[in-house]
Amino acid sequence: MTQIGTRAADSTAGPLAITDRAFIPRERYYDKAFFQLENEALWPHVWQMACRMEEIPKVGDYVEYSVANYSILVVRTGEDEIKAYQNACRHRATQLALGCGTFRGGQIVCPFHGWRWNLDGTPSGLYGKAGFDPHAVDPEDLKLIECQVGTWAGCVFINMDRDAPSLEEAMQPLPKHLDPLKVADMRVYWWKAIRLKANWKLAIEAFMESWHLMATHPQVVQGAGETFPADYLSAQNSYENGHASLAHDPDHEAHADLGADGKAEAEKALAFMRVVAEGLQAMVLDKDIAVIEGLRNIECAPEEFSARMIEALYSWNSGAGIKLPDPDPETLANWGSQWFIFPNFMIHPMYGNAISYRVRPDSDDPEHCYFEVWSLTLYPEGEKRGKPVFDGVHPTGSEEWPLIPRQDFGNIERQQRGLHTPGYKAQRLARQYEDGIANLHVHLDSYLAR
Ligand code: FES
Ligand SMILES: [Fe+2]
Repeated sequence: MTQIGTRAADSTAGPLAITDRAFIPRERYYDKAFFQLENEALWPHVWQMACRMEEIPKVGDYVEYSVANYSILVVRTGEDEIKAYQNACRHRATQLALGCGTFRGGQIVCPFHGWRWNLDGTPSGLYGKAGFDPHAVDPEDLKLIECQVGTWAGCVFINMDRDAPSLEEAMQPLPKHLDPLKVADMRVYWWKAIRLKANWKLAIEAFMESWHLMATHPQVVQGAGETFPADYLSAQNSYENGHASLAHDPDHEAHADLGADGKAEAEKALAFMRVVAEGLQAMVLDKDIAVIEGLRNIECAPEEFSARMIEALYSWNSGAGIKLPDPDPETLANWGSQWFIFPNFMIHPMYGNAISYRVRPDSDDPEHCYFEVWSLTLYPEGEKRGKPVFDGVHPTGSEEWPLIPRQDFGNIERQQRGLHTPGYKAQRLARQYEDGIANLHVHLDSYLAR
């Protein structure tokens, strides 16, 4: 029976290991042997976001999750139960299902010779069984090979390694920060993908720091009507388990230049939010803009504006039947913070909305990846929503992408080409702004060394 091996607990430095958090050797982004090592030592052992829960609302619904050369079927097997299987027939390895859909009649049927399984992975029909030696058709050995499954933040996570620590353990310390933001209740507003000519790590790293805002997305900074010191946007926290977050520096906020009065603050907020809403179509949505537009004639001191804006957002959402997170100061302070979830997933929540990213190696090429973006939002409580609609794969530069991700994608492919420059040795990281990237690599090393 195929079994994914267990890892040794201790680790020694693997090839191209990080020895200095300020430098990431360039080969980690294109070397074929390094890529192969990731495919053997990382993906089969790490928890990864396999699909959004809303993709499999009914019993029998499935999604194929593929990463590197692996393919996993995530199946809703009960109202409150989801299972995941290695996507290979126990006869001659044919992939049992592709893409997404529903297993009719609760049966998973191999397209080659028609062997069947129940949703729980037990064999239910072996056409031609009599022709096999009995020891070759032991029912125990014919069960689908199961992966570990966990759910969190509105998503299904899988781990092919059945001996790996639990999802709960692997996600620490993120749930206590992210759960109060109600990301689990958010649903898809739009969902698109792109194939990038870049290593998967390079792609996600472009979203792990914000001090590129000044140069890459100048319209956002101009929209806010002020200059953003690098520190303001990049209070980087690196955590255990390879996770990281980026929070706004509250000290800067406390000393920000205020306008003459509440009206001036409303104009500033509007300008910023319009640029984000137009440029991202996520995090700030038209409904939020409409609320702030209603505050343009507000009579209040400039320092009171922010609290009044929050009040107005809560009041509008509550009128629309949308339950925003509890407005305690810590939760509100986390609006706009972004969370990197090792190894390849991100959530960036704001005002009951969020943008979320996932990147995976695409094919056997270390220099290609498949990158998805979800815009998420809280809908009115009780509103029935169908499965999310995938808006397709769109190339770099396509106007199907809002301006902000388009600007980011351009950088990523240029970086990948730049890595091959003779004489260039390593990515150079700022400890204060980019340590989450170093943290990703150091934690990755702990897998590669096992
Ligand atoms: S390969 Fe699946 S039934 Fe033969
Ligand atoms: Fe960006």
